Amino acid sequence: MKNYINLSDIEDLPELLEDALKLKEHNSDPELGKGKTLGMLFFNPSLRTRLSTEKAAKLLGMEVMVMNVNSDGWALEFEDGVVMDSNKAEHIKEGAAVLSQYCDIIAVRAFPELKDKDKDNAEMVMNGFKEYASVPILNLESATGHPLQALTDALTILELKQVKRPKVVLTWAPHPRALPHAVPNSFVEMMQKMDVDFTITHPVGYELNSDVTKDTPIIHDQEEALKDADFVYVKNWSSYEHYGDVLRADNAWTFNLEKLQHTNNARVMHCLPVRRNIVIADEVLDSDNSVVIHQANNRTFAAQAVLKKLLKN
Ligand code: CP
Repeated sequence: MKNYINLSDIEDLPELLEDALKLKEHNSDPELGKGKTLGMLFFNPSLRTRLSTEKAAKLLGMEVMVMNVNSDGWALEFEDGVVMDSNKAEHIKEGAAVLSQYCDIIAVRAFPELKDKDKDNAEMVMNGFKEYASVPILNLESATGHPLQALTDALTILELKQVKRPKVVLTWAPHPRALPHAVPNSFVEMMQKMDVDFTITHPVGYELNSDVTKDTPIIHDQEEALKDADFVYVKNWSSYEHYGDVLRADNAWTFNLEKLQHTNNARVMHCLPVRRNIVIADEVLDSDNSVVIHQANNRTFAAQAVLKKLLKN
């Protein structure tokens, strides 16, 4: 694996998942990363991604350096050929080249601005690092994808499923702020690769990018979609068509006990952080059906499996 920027960078998904499961049971490679350094650059906040990836690297014997770019680093210019007379003091060409001398893997988190769809879809930050760094790039959540989260989600479903081909439903839920499409995009792409019966449900107007959803069934009646689900992944995202807009903020789609009762006693997933009693009700998050903490624990082992692949490259 040269980089882990998109799910398409995975060469053998079953093997990667099996390795992550094995690493969870037993840390078989504590020396693989000895003498190597992971540099993590955060343009946005994080709890799980930051700490689970740092833990994963340390479990492999790596050194870790973390920088909150917006507060600690020079503002980076990603456009080519510009006269740099704005507040941006360093070009990605020098920045990525210099970091490649200090780090053996560069990991980057850079959210979308949710103002200009084409600009966000261009993934300027992630692609800038890919182009100008000479070491592997690890996506810690970009404008359009969160592949480490999706690998974690696949691992969680694989571990907890009780039937060979479970029914998995991705349901939109409300949120007061405009959230990106990265997590649902990557979850959809991952479910399309897995042997699951997968459905998406959301209100009209919240269609994800059709290049991502492809022929995955989309049902606008949440109750109907949830029927007999074995896993429910609850997530908010802003409108893609009316790019970045919050079209509704009522609680009709909040995932509560009444919604859970339509399912096959489903395991309830969320990437976290989650706003209680807006996205998911207390009564669900505090029930045995919620696997969000288990899911967050799996972040470490998914990251460890990916770092192993990048180190072995
Ligand atoms: N799920 C996730 O990426 O969590 P953080 O934003 O806290 O890293």
